Amino acid sequence: MIINLISDTVTKPTAGMLEAMMTAEVGDDVFKNDPSVNALEEKVAKMFGMEAALFFPSGTMTNRTAIKLHTQPGEQLICDKYAHVFNYEGGGVSFNSGVSCRLLDGHRGMVSAQQVEEAINPPDFYHSPLTSLVCIENTTNKGGGACWDLEELKRIKKVCEKHGLHYHLDGARLWNAMVANNENPKEYGALFETISVCLSKGLGCPVGSVLLGTKEHIHDALRIRKILGGGMRQSGFRQPRGFMPWTIMWND
Ligand SMILES: Cc1ncc(COP(=O)(O)O)c(C=O)c1O
Repeated sequence: MIINLISDTVTKPTAGMLEAMMTAEVGDDVFKNDPSVNALEEKVAKMFGMEAALFFPSGTMTNRTAIKLHTQPGEQLICDKYAHVFNYEGGGVSFNSGVSCRLLDGHRGMVSAQQVEEAINPPDFYHSPLTSLVCIENTTNKGGGACWDLEELKRIKKVCEKHGLHYHLDGARLWNAMVANNENPKEYGALFETISVCLSKGLGCPVGSVLLGTKEHIHDALRIRKILGGGMRQSGFRQPRGFMPWTIMWND
């Protein structure tokens, strides 16, 4: 038997997942009429204690959308030099949002609150881009799956609040970090304005990611998803039942 360790993205749906897909109740999700997708969004939002959620075809598109929600063209986001949003999303930060990245020299994809604060451009100095967003990645992909210390993330949130910056989490593999550190999704829901989580990385789902935020964020995200071509029709065939092990662990 050959085991392919190139990435957790090469994992395939299990027999249980395939069966769930065969029996999934579906509708047109562009009209928000797919009961399986609606149930998934409600379930994940509740799990994180956040107001609303939206299902997307990919984690790249959830990140694209979150960055668009939080920025205006010409502005700058802060992230680690290893960040997926900077390195592996085809330059979508600039393509879709007209935003530049201020890269921090962190450790395995993780930075300190002090580094973030030092990287903020003075808002009145109109020669430099206006800093408007901090993007965190947990676990870090290029950092080899490193997990953040939640306390540092809280300190960075304080810096964001002090300077009026938005705070987004690329949680493609947040599930792994929460298991490793015995954390609860609600702790993350209380910290970040938007969170992207992926279902297609080792969870047996063939495709998909979920963006979490306020009702207003998700209202606006629906339009951005449409613009990016991410509105899918009977997408509930990627069924929430495949998500069960995680919900059992974290439902209260
Ligand atoms: C940290 C991180 N964010 C986002 C993504 C993008 O996910 P997708 O491949 O679904 O676009 C990946 C993909 O591997 C990732 O590792």
